[in-house]
Amino acid sequence: MGTGRFITVEGIDGAGKSTQLQALAQWLRERGLQVLVTREPGGTALAERLRELLLHQPMDALTEALLVFAARRDHLVQLIEPALAAGTTVLCDRYTDATFAYQGGGRGFDAAVLAQLEQWVQRGREPELTLWFDLDPALAAGRRAAARAADRFEAQDAAFFDRVRAGYAARCAAAPGRFVRLDAAAPPATVWAQIEDAMRARAWS
Ligand code: TYD
Repeated sequence: MGTGRFITVEGIDGAGKSTQLQALAQWLRERGLQVLVTREPGGTALAERLRELLLHQPMDALTEALLVFAARRDHLVQLIEPALAAGTTVLCDRYTDATFAYQGGGRGFDAAVLAQLEQWVQRGREPELTLWFDLDPALAAGRRAAARAADRFEAQDAAFFDRVRAGYAARCAAAPGRFVRLDAAAPPATVWAQIEDAMRARAWS
């Protein structure tokens, strides 16, 4: 059995990625693939505990970056790597692009330090495909307001999300072969059509 594919979804809070992720999992399963849907921070018991702290406990930027990567390390070792080795397709709701966008762009944390942590923690494990749900932060804020109470990230102001979006745009520009930018302002059916196109273009199913 070959190695499974590693696909991530990214975007600012409120871009609508979670619903489309479930649809993609279903689409892949209908084509006979074994699929694992997981998320970051989280995915394992330890990483889910770190997620609670990250979302609700005030902390400084370095602590935040270290906890994000600690959660990622546990997730990779315990769940993602074994699944890929077993031939399972892994769909992950956020991964390291989120760290460069939120901790790097949003918080202004040193990108060179993040790149060093990325190397230590991942040892080259990168997604093969990243679906970036790109959305104007003002539109995303409207969608979030209609949802549940904000966590430490969702409570940030518009300027923070402008920087996060710029962080994603920079990651996309640096890895154009891996990234697919989706217009997340479009109706859900149109966004889904863009995802299906991306999968078909790669002949992955
Ligand atoms: P999210 O994945 O959007 O979950 P939900 O849809 O349930 O809110 O929330 C996770 C938050 O964590 C999100 O605001 C972005 C943030 N985050 C980082 O700041 N850095 C990271 O590396 C990751 C993976 C997430």
